[in-house]
Amino acid sequence: MKSERLKITENRQITADIYKMCLLGAEKPLPGNFLELTIPGCFLGRPFGVAGYADGITEIYYRVVGEGTMKMTGMKEGEEVDALTGLGNSFDTNGVKKPLIVSGGLGFAPLKFLAESFVEKGITPLFVAGFKSRSDIVEFLKESGFSPVITTDDGTAGFHGSAVDYIKEKVPEFDRYYACGPMPMLKGMAAAFKGGQLSLEARMGCGFGACMGCSIMTTAGAKRVCKEGPVFSSEEVIFGD
Ligand SMILES: Cc1cc2nc3c(=O)[nH]c(=O)nc-3n(C[C@H](O)[C@H](O)[C@H](O)COP(=O)(O)OP(=O)(O)OC[C@H]3O[C@@H](n4cnc5c(N)ncnc54)[C@H](O)[C@@H]3O)c2cc1C
Ligand code: FES
Repeated sequence: MKSERLKITENRQITADIYKMCLLGAEKPLPGNFLELTIPGCFLGRPFGVAGYADGITEIYYRVVGEGTMKMTGMKEGEEVDALTGLGNSFDTNGVKKPLIVSGGLGFAPLKFLAESFVEKGITPLFVAGFKSRSDIVEFLKESGFSPVITTDDGTAGFHGSAVDYIKEKVPEFDRYYACGPMPMLKGMAAAFKGGQLSLEARMGCGFGACMGCSIMTTAGAKRVCKEGPVFSSEEVIFGD
């Protein structure tokens, strides 16, 4: 973890409620890491998964859901923001030759960074990205530079159904899968397939392991999403109802 002051180089709306922000000055993160931005006027930092990194610039995508993210939409290019960077653990990619990457909604963001790291190693992952509807995806994917297999809940683009439905139907070959998205989706993947790495979200307090506010239950007891996670093995997470 590092405390850094980052300069906003881009902050742009790309769909009705999703924005892309680029921040200059952080050390190179690992795929799976997240950062916490200090938003003026907000007591707690706001965590975001790293979606990309190049030339000292960290890329995040954020959905406007409340006070902090609404304030972020008004931040301007050139403005500086305090951040805790290099938070959390990272995806384990050692020895993986046939990765399957599965996202739901904005879970796409941290997995994009992971997919890029595989491509850098000469490995093309199978990337299945699930969205609610076509309107969610068109601009977002244009921005991302990736062309994953698309699924939509309402059938307006790609496969009609969830990303998990697609994988259950097509049963692609993989030696490890990586998933990020809403809890029901992660639960569905973990129930259907072993050998996965799941990137979880939780309401956070401190963001660096001090308050226990982000704990989840695992087969080895309570673990903190911000410290032992956000990446957990699909076998260790105990999902609620
Ligand atoms: C490790 C991690 C990575 C994340 N990565 C991203 C990302 O890449 N892009 C992105 O848009 N968001 C991401 N989030 C969620 C993001 O942190 C929250 O949406 C944000 O903090 C909300 O701030 P706010 O002040 O706008 O909303 P608030 O006013 O704090 O809350 C508004 C609403 O959002 C809900 N909410 C807030 N935080 C969370 C959360 N952590 N999980 C579930 N619901 C929440 C609240 O319950 C409330 O209903 C991530 C969260 C974690 C823990
Ligand atoms: S948010 Fe404080 S321990 Fe995780």
